[in-house]
Amino acid sequence: MSSRIPGKVRIVEVGPRDGLQNEKQPISTELKVELVERLANAGINTIEAGSFVNPKWVPQMAGSDEVFRQMQRKPGVRYAALTPNLQGAQRALEVGATELSIFAAASEAFSQKNINCSIEQSLQRFEPVMAAAKTAGVAVRGYVSCVVGCPYEGAVDPAVVARVSRQLIDLGCYEVSLGDTTGVGTPTSVTRMLDAVASEVAIDQLAVHLHDTYGQAIANIYASLQRGVGVVDSAVAGLGGCPYARGASGNVATEDLLYLLDGLGIEHGIDLLAVAQAGQFITAALGRENGSRAGRALLSISDT
Ligand code: HMG
Ligand code: MG
Repeated sequence: MSSRIPGKVRIVEVGPRDGLQNEKQPISTELKVELVERLANAGINTIEAGSFVNPKWVPQMAGSDEVFRQMQRKPGVRYAALTPNLQGAQRALEVGATELSIFAAASEAFSQKNINCSIEQSLQRFEPVMAAAKTAGVAVRGYVSCVVGCPYEGAVDPAVVARVSRQLIDLGCYEVSLGDTTGVGTPTSVTRMLDAVASEVAIDQLAVHLHDTYGQAIANIYASLQRGVGVVDSAVAGLGGCPYARGASGNVATEDLLYLLDGLGIEHGIDLLAVAQAGQFITAALGRENGSRAGRALLSISDT
């Protein structure tokens, strides 16, 4: 095994946000709250629990205020909120978000479709978000979307990903999560992109956020670990997709990621079976197939 593979990986669970944002059917606040609580009880210590965007754009996240108000919080767990602008940041801080996530893109067309402005304008919009977070003493994480491919522009130049990542760090983000929004990457294109970004941003400030549209997410995570990445985003039961990236399927499933890490002997501090049960709980409630292969396999041989 390459010596750059970290001994410990931190998982950022994005199922309650990136997963549920894409569901068309109504989902009750109670269900969202129970999902977040189950994930925290399984030992996950960073959970993106909702987003504070324009509810007309993403109706499913309209109730995020209530989720943050109602959920029982576990000490030591960071409950993050996705916020596109100051209005979103203020809403999130009011209900006690313990971390904010801002999101830019490496593609102009995607930036316009997703947040209705150019990449440069989005970075300017984040300045007051950073100031509000600083005043509140809350850390901010940055996303870059479309780091490999864009649904509107095709292949994305790794140099642009590197530039936007650097700009997010310069704004004050403690970490940048690199999103393969449409899941088109393979280990070759993902490592090419990572190498470009790592020339601008320290590897320990980078995370990967890989959608599994083409079944490459686990291979891409393994390649990223070999480059020294120690933070990985995932969604329980492989929920999700992005409403502004047609054909994008869910993130890598948290259960599949944990199974990989266990096999590699990498520490993560999370109870895999409890996550699998949370995955079964939410997919049964939504009436959709459990998208985690590891979750389905484990539950089929478990007595609980
Ligand atoms: P806009 O329409 O240009 O905003 O949208 P505006 O500033 O002109 O305001 C228009 C209206 O929106 C106003 O209301 C504002 O009050 C309201 P009106 O006067 O018309 O009644 N508004 C808000 N309401 C509540 N909360 C807010 C907010 N902001 C404005 N925060 C905006 C700009 C960014 C708001 C809009 O484009 C938007 O909400 N976009 C969200 C898109 C989104 O959530 N996409 C999915 C998440 S990104 C993702 O999934 C990718 C990721 O997972 C990484 C990866 O996979 O690569 C992160
Ligand atoms: Mg995503």
